[in-house]
Amino acid sequence: MSQIKKIGILTSGGDCAGLNAVIRAVVNSASKLGWEVYGIKDGTNGLTDDTLRYEVLTVHNYSDTPWPRLSGSYLGSSNQGVKMESLEAMSQRFHRGVKALGLDALVVVGGDGSMNIVSNYCKGTDIRMVGVPKTIDNDTPLTEFSVGFDSACQVCTTAIDSLSLTARSHSRALILEVMGRDAGHLAMHSALAGNADVCLVPEVPYSIDGVINKLKEIKKSGRNHAIIVVSEGLKTENGEHLSAAKNKVGEAVYGGIGQYLSAELNKRYGEFQTRVTTLGHVQRAGEPTSFDRKVAALFGAKAVELLAKGEHNCMVLWKNGHVSAAPLNEVVKEGTTLLNPQSDYVRAAEAVGMYVGETK
Ligand code: F6P
Repeated sequence: MSQIKKIGILTSGGDCAGLNAVIRAVVNSASKLGWEVYGIKDGTNGLTDDTLRYEVLTVHNYSDTPWPRLSGSYLGSSNQGVKMESLEAMSQRFHRGVKALGLDALVVVGGDGSMNIVSNYCKGTDIRMVGVPKTIDNDTPLTEFSVGFDSACQVCTTAIDSLSLTARSHSRALILEVMGRDAGHLAMHSALAGNADVCLVPEVPYSIDGVINKLKEIKKSGRNHAIIVVSEGLKTENGEHLSAAKNKVGEAVYGGIGQYLSAELNKRYGEFQTRVTTLGHVQRAGEPTSFDRKVAALFGAKAVELLAKGEHNCMVLWKNGHVSAAPLNEVVKEGTTLLNPQSDYVRAAEAVGMYVGETK
């Protein structure tokens, strides 16, 4: 028997659509077992700050509101960018917070970074943790999908659809810069869905000449417009990362590769006028798609089921249409999952005529 009476739930890292649906699934499943659910505010900060911040979540005060259908995180989240004390000091704060609230277990909704950090906080303690993967980058290891990815793809695909229409009106090559950090999943999936002409991702080498050849081919075919999707983590031809800003601990926040591409295309091939759209944080705030809501429900319910069975220190995941779980140490060991240049997605993109870089 798990002997659980009270659990905590927190959302950590960059937000995305579907987080509130995960919270609902956890609140509902846990309430059915008679457990109390404490929603921890602002990621791990609600447990590690001097003043603990939380809210008791019930079916009545949380699930029966519109929140579960909205994007963002009802509880708030914390991304990197906060200077942390040593791991030891943070673990102690975390442990103190969990004990002070009397939590028997914790559901952590986060990406690979959060799984790593929180599992380190829990190491060597008796805190029972289950992770639920979420991120628009879809780079959490061992799971085919993370909550939020499909909704972000939808935002990008809608943007490509709109851009295609104005590109045609003005005979332009329009460049769409999308998020994803070092992973090209978001760019490739939405380029495929939106029927883009070019998709450049960090995992596949490319050349500006390759892009120009594709634009020439389009011109020759009689078409006057093109759509280029570029992932923010793509490097310049010289191998440089471009960054738009820095977070509070001095790490680069990627941005600017779309403008670089535009300038290079104008310099070397002026046949298409170019313009750049950088979608930015709107990608994290679209309406949760039905797929994300479904995955959120499955993941949330599974997390509670595992805890009820006495299983913890694991992350729920989606593989081959089924929900299962993997030990956290395996998740952490695996690290960020990048787009495989040989994947079906990249091959399909090439097969339908997209320039995706030099895959061979
Ligand atoms: O990891 C999610 C993500 O949206 C990335 O795609 C992006 O690079 C980053 O977060 C942006 O972070 P911030 O919210 O700090 O601007």
